[in-house]
Amino acid sequence: MDSFWKHLPKPFFALAPMADVTDPAYRRLIADYGVPHVTWTEFVSADGLYHTREKKGMKDEENPLVRDLQYSEAERPIVAQIFGSNPETIAYASELAATLGFDGVDINMGCPDRSIEKQGAGAAMIKNPELVKPIVEAARRGAARGKEGGIPVSLKTRIGYHQETMDTWLPVVLASKPDALTVHLRTRKEMSKVDAHWELMARAVALRNEHSPDTIILGNGDVKDLDDARLKAALSGADGIMLGRAIFGSPWLFTDRKPNDISPTERIEALRTFAQYFSELRPTKSFHLLKKHIKSFIAGWDGAAQLRGILMEASTQEELDSILAALKP
Ligand SMILES: Cc1cc2nc3c(=O)[nH]c(=O)nc-3n(C[C@H](O)[C@H](O)[C@H](O)COP(=O)(O)O)c2cc1C
Repeated sequence: MDSFWKHLPKPFFALAPMADVTDPAYRRLIADYGVPHVTWTEFVSADGLYHTREKKGMKDEENPLVRDLQYSEAERPIVAQIFGSNPETIAYASELAATLGFDGVDINMGCPDRSIEKQGAGAAMIKNPELVKPIVEAARRGAARGKEGGIPVSLKTRIGYHQETMDTWLPVVLASKPDALTVHLRTRKEMSKVDAHWELMARAVALRNEHSPDTIILGNGDVKDLDDARLKAALSGADGIMLGRAIFGSPWLFTDRKPNDISPTERIEALRTFAQYFSELRPTKSFHLLKKHIKSFIAGWDGAAQLRGILMEASTQEELDSILAALKP
């Protein structure tokens, strides 16, 4: 298998998976402005894919989970992120990711959401390290069914559950020889409430060197922009840096443009384009998801608050479109 991970520059910059944020519509907007070196989809339930497609026979065109896995060629290389704790459904979802043409499949081992943890998935994996090997093996098996030679399997996790336990947890994860590993530099308990512990990243890199030198390692947490990412990569020795929330209202994040270089007109235009992509690619999703983006796009200039107030009054896509259209110079 020719893994795309081996052909990335050092350091490289990745777009984080973020449920209901980095959806197909927002990713298409990001691809218009400047693609990251690697893009992740938001996470999709492996059990959900298995039950809707395999058991209920739901058609892909009607299946919201499969729709979440839409992507455009401009987003390559793109990795599908899945969650689950059942090797059978993980294999199924990995096979599907390979069949759909994804460049890699990533398994979530860090999500603190209680509904995900109840399924034994996400951060719950940190408490059940014996699951890592069968899950990764299942993903490899499934991926090889979907595409000859398979596709790379990567993992995304945290530095521990209740407390930082990198010295025991990362060797477990690395023993499965993932093609790539993203370390979100917080524990499960810390959620996103404290600063990411970047001072620990060099130790994560050393553990990778010791236990699985061929695994590509990414650091993640609180990275503001590409300058910040370059600095953090240089200081820690990470191969890549993953950026998440910095993309809010900033689809040009992966270019070197500074926030001050982006005019209000360009911000409004980007929001208008995004609204179009949202109605085209996410027709069944709640309009409220779009409102989160309005707040972050329409900010940072005199009069932004007033305009934001007007836009937030919109309750349908059509209303938003007509307010935005009326703003056209
Ligand atoms: C709204 C939201 C949704 C997220 N969804 C996912 C997800 O689907 N899969 C995942 O691995 N992490 C998810 N995360 C965590 C991010 O990928 C990332 O690890 C975290 O936000 C820290 O990086 P940042 O400080 O650059 O945002 C999510 C975070 C946010 C804020």
